Amino acid sequence: MSALLPVYDRDLVVVSGKGARVTDAEGKTYLDFAAGIGVNGLGYGDREVVAAIRKQAARLLHASNLYYSQPVRDLADRLVTLAFPAKVFFCNSGTEAVEAAMKFARRIGGPAGRTDFVAFEHAFHGRTLGALSMTWTEKYRTPFEPLLPGVHFCPWDDLKAAAAAIGPKTAAVFVEPVQGEGGVRVAPREFLQGLADICRDRGALLVSEEVQCGLGRTGKLFAYQHAGIRPDILTLAKPLGGGLPLGAVLIKEELAPAIAVGDHGSTFGGNPVAAAAALAVLDRLTSPKFLDKVDQKGVFLRKGLNRIARSYPAISQVRSQGLMVGIELVSSAIPVVKGLREKGILVTRAGDNVVRLLPPLVVKRKDIREFLGALDAVLASGACAPPAPPAVMLEGGGGAVA
Ligand SMILES: Cc1ncc(COP(=O)(O)O)c(C=O)c1O
Repeated sequence: MSALLPVYDRDLVVVSGKGARVTDAEGKTYLDFAAGIGVNGLGYGDREVVAAIRKQAARLLHASNLYYSQPVRDLADRLVTLAFPAKVFFCNSGTEAVEAAMKFARRIGGPAGRTDFVAFEHAFHGRTLGALSMTWTEKYRTPFEPLLPGVHFCPWDDLKAAAAAIGPKTAAVFVEPVQGEGGVRVAPREFLQGLADICRDRGALLVSEEVQCGLGRTGKLFAYQHAGIRPDILTLAKPLGGGLPLGAVLIKEELAPAIAVGDHGSTFGGNPVAAAAALAVLDRLTSPKFLDKVDQKGVFLRKGLNRIARSYPAISQVRSQGLMVGIELVSSAIPVVKGLREKGILVTRAGDNVVRLLPPLVVKRKDIREFLGALDAVLASGACAPPAPPAVMLEGGGGAVA
């Protein structure tokens, strides 16, 4: 019972966390393979992030965007150095980053009549009305229609369809290099390269939407780097602020002059404390061998999952890049999510039948082994039995046999 609006289905009360583990109000500790839905990339209570927050909070908590502050300037410089020559806009969340990217793309292409967007089937870009217009899942969209006109959805990994949809009215194409909420689908290299080529030929902007898959999650700092492309716009959020709300939009330097004072803004966006935390996060992500280890742990987890998948027909496919993993089941993922929780492991779903794993990037191999053992036990208990073979209609009889 709570006065909170029930837009989330929840019951657990969490009180503290350390590393990859979180403790509830009854003192039970869980291994967290959801990592605050991808936010806690460095796990809970990272010493350097906490120290950076403490130091900056004591110095300056908020100053407004009427003024510069040093951590915010430093963070913009750092991101641009790590990604590509760009100008940066800061906001507070993933959906705000997407909204800002949509506005900037229209500002850049609008004078030439480019007002439309291309997104992909199964895409998730957020819940505000603009971002929701590019989110594929019908149950999220339908109650709030009419949404933004001029959004065209293309099938995933279908360059022919994309080429047909991207035209003179397209302001931007939004693509998650690894789709998150939509089921953990990894964009093949050739798909991203093809999109970049089509966008360049047709004068549309390519937005690499990395709110969930960016910042080390896939084993590279930015997920677009797997394809060797450079997007026009990059959106970041979730792990950026080390647990504080922070989103960022990077716009290629040569496009930035189209954006003028007053085109967009945010009271809280670009908070100095969140920026100080983000600088500490980036220090860790770029420290020697950090991303190599993410990659190696991703391979270790994947091998273990492949082994389990061979024993259980309930698993139809395992998809992953780095430490972003989807285990597709032949039926609902709910019993498996529940079974894992009973064994002290938190995971989340992506769509109805995919168990999504977003462990903290600092997860240890022994944690991965613990997870694999628990998953094996949950599947062995029949939590996700393959559905019975399809019923066969008997001609003329009207009955069904299994
Ligand atoms: C790819 C992507 N874009 C946007 C969002 C929305 O981010 P937020 O919940 O921070 O608004 C999400 C959230 O899961 C996401 O995965």
